[in-house]
Amino acid sequence: MNYRFSGNSGLQLPLVSLGLWHNFGSVDSYDNARDMLLYAFDKGVTHFDIANNYGPEPGSAELTFGRVLRENLYAHRDELIISSKAGYGMWDGPYGDGGSRKYLIASCNQSLRRTGLEYFDIFYSHRYDPQTPIQETMQALVDIVRSGKALYAGISNYPADKQQECYDYLAAHDVPCVIGQYKANMVARQTLDENLPVARKNGSGFICFSPLAQGRLTDRYLNGIPAGSRATKGVFLKPENISPEVIQMTKKLNDLAAQRGQTLAEMAVAWLLAHEGVTSVIVGASSVQQLEKNLRGADNIVFSDEELKTISKLVHGFEM
Ligand SMILES: NC(=O)c1ccc[n+]([C@@H]2O[C@H](COP(=O)([O-])OP(=O)(O)OC[C@H]3O[C@@H](n4cnc5c(N)ncnc54)[C@H](OP(=O)(O)O)[C@@H]3O)[C@@H](O)[C@H]2O)c1
Repeated sequence: MNYRFSGNSGLQLPLVSLGLWHNFGSVDSYDNARDMLLYAFDKGVTHFDIANNYGPEPGSAELTFGRVLRENLYAHRDELIISSKAGYGMWDGPYGDGGSRKYLIASCNQSLRRTGLEYFDIFYSHRYDPQTPIQETMQALVDIVRSGKALYAGISNYPADKQQECYDYLAAHDVPCVIGQYKANMVARQTLDENLPVARKNGSGFICFSPLAQGRLTDRYLNGIPAGSRATKGVFLKPENISPEVIQMTKKLNDLAAQRGQTLAEMAVAWLLAHEGVTSVIVGASSVQQLEKNLRGADNIVFSDEELKTISKLVHGFEM
């Protein structure tokens, strides 16, 4: 595994990181979750991305991670970069959602208890909350770092103009924003156009989530919707998102990947890593076999102009 510095910081992240949004909850197989985490670490994936609400049930991905850490990885704590976040709805009432100081600090404390960690390496404001002044949210991040509950601060899903305000506030308070986390893949390119340049200008890192469009930029759905796939769960990805047009487009991308000697999943990861300023790509996986393929995405990240043009043409007009 190769590593890249996150913006101008001294923090290096693996080209491919592993996210715990799906498949690490209390409803999922613990053994499978543990095997994926240990496989990833063995392959040099030092960064694991969590959030307070990952599960289901919310909070249970942090419990799963905490158990694996306790039982298998604790001796390696200092070799790991573990992130968590608060921003989306987590508990009832006005203090369990958004960007208030109350929510971020209470949630960070809860996340530390669930994982059993003394500190997170990165703690994120998970989203921009228009009802809370940015200064309040950012000061909460500054204080989380200053109190030793996290080493670095990050932001996620902020519109570009608000992103700049975050960078300015955090830099002025000597806790520079180490990284921004945004949805980005071969089809969903908006954040690469809007947020990545702001991150680069400010010397901040950029990490992409849903690089495989939740499985659609792989061979997962080329021959229908397999039992147990994310689309069958119908929450964040629905069967209607796998339209015949999407399958046709994916088949063409799959052919291009084959010409490059890659699987489509590998090409999707590689395409993101080919962007200047992208620090890392957070993949999801439901098995070690998937993860194995996704990690290979870091192996060939060079694209010809012709290949890039073909990809752009194939995905034009699609949303993911
Ligand atoms: N900051 C945020 O707001 C935010 C939002 C979303 C995600 N994230 C982060 O980003 C991480 C990744 O997001 P994501 O899970 O949407 O990423 P993704 O990599 O786009 O999708 C992962 C899913 O695709 C399928 N898949 C993965 N590898 C495959 C392969 N090689 N072949 C076939 N199918 C494959 C699996 O679904 P099946 O279940 O069908 O096997 C897997 O669960 C999350 O865990 C989280 O850490 C952050």
